[in-house]
Amino acid sequence: DANDTEKGLYPHYMLKEIDEQPAVMRTLIQEYVTPTGESTIPVEIVSEMAESDRIYVVGCGTSWHAGLVGKKMLEELTQIPVEVHLASEMGYDMPILSKKPFFIFLTQSGETADSRQVLVKINEMKLPSLTITNVKGSTLSREATHTLLLHAGPEIAVASTKAYTSQISVMLFLAKALGEKLGQEKAKGLDIVHELGIVAAAMESLVDDKDHYSELSQSFLNETRNAFYIGRGLDYAVSLEGALKLKEISYIQAEGFAAGELKHGTIALIEKGTPVVALISNKEMGSHTRGNIKEVESRGAKSLVIALEGLEKETDAIVLPHVHELVTPLVTVIPLQLLAYYASLQRDLDVDKPRNLAKSVTVE
Ligand code: G6P
Repeated sequence: DANDTEKGLYPHYMLKEIDEQPAVMRTLIQEYVTPTGESTIPVEIVSEMAESDRIYVVGCGTSWHAGLVGKKMLEELTQIPVEVHLASEMGYDMPILSKKPFFIFLTQSGETADSRQVLVKINEMKLPSLTITNVKGSTLSREATHTLLLHAGPEIAVASTKAYTSQISVMLFLAKALGEKLGQEKAKGLDIVHELGIVAAAMESLVDDKDHYSELSQSFLNETRNAFYIGRGLDYAVSLEGALKLKEISYIQAEGFAAGELKHGTIALIEKGTPVVALISNKEMGSHTRGNIKEVESRGAKSLVIALEGLEKETDAIVLPHVHELVTPLVTVIPLQLLAYYASLQRDLDVDKPRNLAKSVTVE
């Protein structure tokens, strides 16, 4: 039960929260779509957004990473341009705003000081905003014009997992409702209940395969000081999140990269045995990523390829069940969460409470 704050039989909250993700997907379908298939997102939110000429998504850490995925979904289904900003930068370095901006604050806790300081400025300018948060009544929820909830249940582990996938899903519901309102064919054609149902089943099959990830982590990440995550498009966004998960709880120095960018500098760090995790969930971009995998392998890297069913090669370590191309981050991230979990466990570290980190950072 995602609303349970006890670990139960789980050794760590993080593992429990990873496992809860399929259930959270199903809860979100119930919360955001009526039994007759109508969106439950308040019309005030959709109407206000429909009038905006640009959407600004603001967040920190994992929430910022979810924003990078949300940008693609919103742009694809609504055709409104979207910018994603780090709250700690935007607070002091406000970009030139469009004529009719709309702000989305992504924050699991609803209490992050860096995000709040941007909201305070937005409110001074009397601009409309929406907070997408897991905590009802939280500061950013109270201070924004609108709120949508993540319905993920309490997230206790410092490393965020189910909040990330629920943030992405809520943005998908929002993008669909907004796109429909704007008459966008792609939005009308997307059967979100069907696609997220497939995602939930795919997530389930992945989290049921824990021994595989434990073994992969042991053989691939044991001993290493560093690791790289590469991908293009949505896979790039998820690479950043995968690298962050590994850093946070295993203390392995990890970097997420746009696959084609590695050769413009960072490939100098590849040595014999350097682990490179590569994501392939898009046919066209994936074929280019295959080329980048060859480049690093020929410099000695050992690669771990995670590919969507239909795009796999025999040597790939992980084949993910096929899902709609817009929702691949909801499944590509699961192996990365599990690899990070086992890397931390195998190093005997405190999985749920890593050093130097706090669940919610309420100071600047
Ligand atoms: C902290 C946490 C991160 C989280 C970030 C943003 O740094 O350790 O896991 O992603 O804050 O938190 P928020 O509650 O605003 O999503």
